[in-house]
Amino acid sequence: MKIALTCNLKKKDASKPADYFSEWDSQETVDAIASALRSRGHNVEAIDVQYPNLVSYFRRNQVDMVFNIAEGTCGRFRESEVPAILDYLDIPYTGSNTFSLALALNKTLTKKILKAENIPTPAFQLFATGKEELNPALRFPLIVKPNCEGSAKGINSSNVVNSREDLYRKIGEVISAYKQEALVEEFIDGRELTVGVLENGSARVLPILEIDFSTCKKSGEYFYSWKMKEYQGDAALGTTPTFHCPARLDPETEARVKEVALKTHRAVGCFDISRTDIRLDKDNVPYVLEINPLPGLDPKESNFPLMAYAAGLSYEDLIEAILLSASERNKA
Ligand SMILES: Nc1ncnc2c1ncn2[C@@H]1O[C@H](COP(=O)(O)OP(=O)(O)O)[C@@H](O)[C@H]1O
Ligand SMILES: [Mg+2]
Repeated sequence: MKIALTCNLKKKDASKPADYFSEWDSQETVDAIASALRSRGHNVEAIDVQYPNLVSYFRRNQVDMVFNIAEGTCGRFRESEVPAILDYLDIPYTGSNTFSLALALNKTLTKKILKAENIPTPAFQLFATGKEELNPALRFPLIVKPNCEGSAKGINSSNVVNSREDLYRKIGEVISAYKQEALVEEFIDGRELTVGVLENGSARVLPILEIDFSTCKKSGEYFYSWKMKEYQGDAALGTTPTFHCPARLDPETEARVKEVALKTHRAVGCFDISRTDIRLDKDNVPYVLEINPLPGLDPKESNFPLMAYAAGLSYEDLIEAILLSASERNKA
């Protein structure tokens, strides 16, 4: 197959905020996906979609499929940029469609759908101006997050607040730094899990990954914050979580967590691949924080490949499974 691999490559630009490029992909990830596809006999060209003329590229270069990992560049619907162009040109692509990508990037709208589907998600309130009255039903500690970011951008330990004063200060900071609404949620103080769904005809749920932050005391961070993700594995900083895959769960909880992840994948309308972030409360209720239809695919660093390896897949198998799922869907 002739495949274009669409991506946004991380850049170095000191004039931008430190987390500006956090969602974007490294050259290593792009190279790893390209060589996995080549090893299965495909002809692959990687395209950094800052390339200004994506439409004319595809008019000049006929491809059978786009393997899309592009996080997009501008605004609230950025993950849909490339799929929207591909829809317009009628070129098939891997992964979720424009609608699901835009939906999943909006945490609050996703949570409304989860609630409608009876999928547990932390109680929440959206602050657009920062002047809204706090819903008295919400219980501290609360966590404040930008509504439409990923890679834990704008989320550090100071985003967990215990007073109204700290809450409103943090809401104001998030709204002004990220030029968007702040999502306030009850903080679920429990185990952190992430769950991969990989479709192969019927969707399969990969072994659950548990991320244990008890080994990160030195870092001053105690959950999957921006610093924890950006500097993962840095012993000097102490950002060294321990991964357990499969997660250390009793069979009943494991089944419930997997069911919730699969329901979330379907409720949001994801295709081929997704990763759902979950926190277990003290009664083992799995609260869905968000779903990632474009999970990181760094073969060494990212969560999703770890789950695929635990399922007995190689990196090449994982990449090929995504491609096969998309090919099957586009045949239909
Ligand atoms: N309501 C919450 N309760 C507990 N921890 C949370 C909550 N929301 C976010 N977190 C922590 O912050 C991390 C990043 O939040 P998440 O909603 O997944 O955003 P992102 O899209 O940036 O990954 C989570 O993986 C988790 O460690
Ligand atoms: Mg997350």
